[in-house]
Amino acid sequence: MTDSSKTAKPTPLSGPKGVPDYVPPVSATFIRVRDEFARQAHLAGYQHIELPVFEDTALFARGVGESTDIVSKEMYTFADRGDRSVTLRPEGTAGVMRSVIEHNLDRGYLPVKLNYYGPFFRYERPQAGRYRQLQQVGVEAIGIDDPLLDAEVIALADRCYRSVGLTGFRLELTSLGDSTCRPQYREKLQEFLFKLPLDEETRHRAEINPLRVLDDKRPEVREMLADAPLMLDHLSAESREHFETVTGTLDDLKVPYVINPRMVRGLDYYTKTTFEFVHDGLGAQSGIGGGGRYDGLMAQIGGQDLSGIGFGLGVDRTVLALEAEGVALEGVDRRVEVFGVAIGEAAGKRMSLLVDALRASGISADMSYGGRGLKGAMKGADRAGAKFALVLGERELEAGQVAVKNLADHSQVEVPLNVEAVIGEIRRGA
Ligand code: HAM
Repeated sequence: MTDSSKTAKPTPLSGPKGVPDYVPPVSATFIRVRDEFARQAHLAGYQHIELPVFEDTALFARGVGESTDIVSKEMYTFADRGDRSVTLRPEGTAGVMRSVIEHNLDRGYLPVKLNYYGPFFRYERPQAGRYRQLQQVGVEAIGIDDPLLDAEVIALADRCYRSVGLTGFRLELTSLGDSTCRPQYREKLQEFLFKLPLDEETRHRAEINPLRVLDDKRPEVREMLADAPLMLDHLSAESREHFETVTGTLDDLKVPYVINPRMVRGLDYYTKTTFEFVHDGLGAQSGIGGGGRYDGLMAQIGGQDLSGIGFGLGVDRTVLALEAEGVALEGVDRRVEVFGVAIGEAAGKRMSLLVDALRASGISADMSYGGRGLKGAMKGADRAGAKFALVLGERELEAGQVAVKNLADHSQVEVPLNVEAVIGEIRRGA
């Protein structure tokens, strides 16, 4: 190594492509959204499940579907040091099913209602709102095929968005039928598609998964598909009744929706009720959440033949949608309630004890460091969004007092220099 290479400044590194960092203050919004969604899920009886971020690759191949883009093109798959093929989870439902089967949760009271949140990984082409590490809050209600449960899950998603102040979204809804009507419909759709002058790739898609062709965005293909048969017109009596109960219950719950019979989801496991929440302020990546019922999934990954329904709400896109709507979540700017402003070394030491005692009593507190003067230290209080500043100079220290300054109305009271007196004043002024 030459001398110059020893002293050369390393070039700064960037984060992985297509992966967002959440730094303050947006990180506070992110946490508020995630926690509020989880809180709403708990209010509806869902319990938290914490799952691994990577799983055996076979789980997703079987659970999500090999014909999907997610499995065929977007998985982060690698061999670990023991030469096992593992995959960073691209979604949450398959992992929840694996765990429910493994821990026999499906042998107890049904439905099993579980909630999860965290990062998921998809090697997609990054663009605004489309990330390679995305965050979701999800719920799964497993083991009972009851349309009232579908309505509960959908209404819960609607409530999650509204609870953080989002309004500019719409719920799109359809039914993808069941094992009695879907195969017949699939044949009918293929019959229609094979008569069209489709290009090689689209024809191939029509052979593997004809429903996916309905999602083609090219105008010339869309035109050809205008008269394509739709699943909603070919539902079995049972699927139709199920869907009608779902829509009727949503009407009763006053959850607005539009029927979109051409909805195509990116995962293969859906049956019957399927839905998506769309926000128009986000450009191309407008899906802020989605979900549906999955009849065959559990059996497909080696469990009992039980049905389930769930959703995944995109936390990243919800944060972007809040920004697009100009909604600021209350209180997210506040780092701490109380900020200590100490002038001089002795006051600094005393303040660090006071701040520690406040924290021990459950009051969030911070203080100025680095021997700042009054003006600089007050700036810290401002930055922290504190409600109160505690001002301690030599004079106060000598008198055994501390000034409690209410930063909202600028009033100031001197109280004895102990944590009880400070807390008393804060409670009085809060
Ligand atoms: P999904 O529709 O693939 O469903 O994803 C759910 C939500 O995650 C999307 O609506 C979107 O908001 C967000 N999302 C997906 N991909 C990205 C991305 N690349 N960047 C940012 N956000 C993204 C599922 O994952 C299913 N597991 C949901 C489910 C649960 N269905 C039944 N149970």
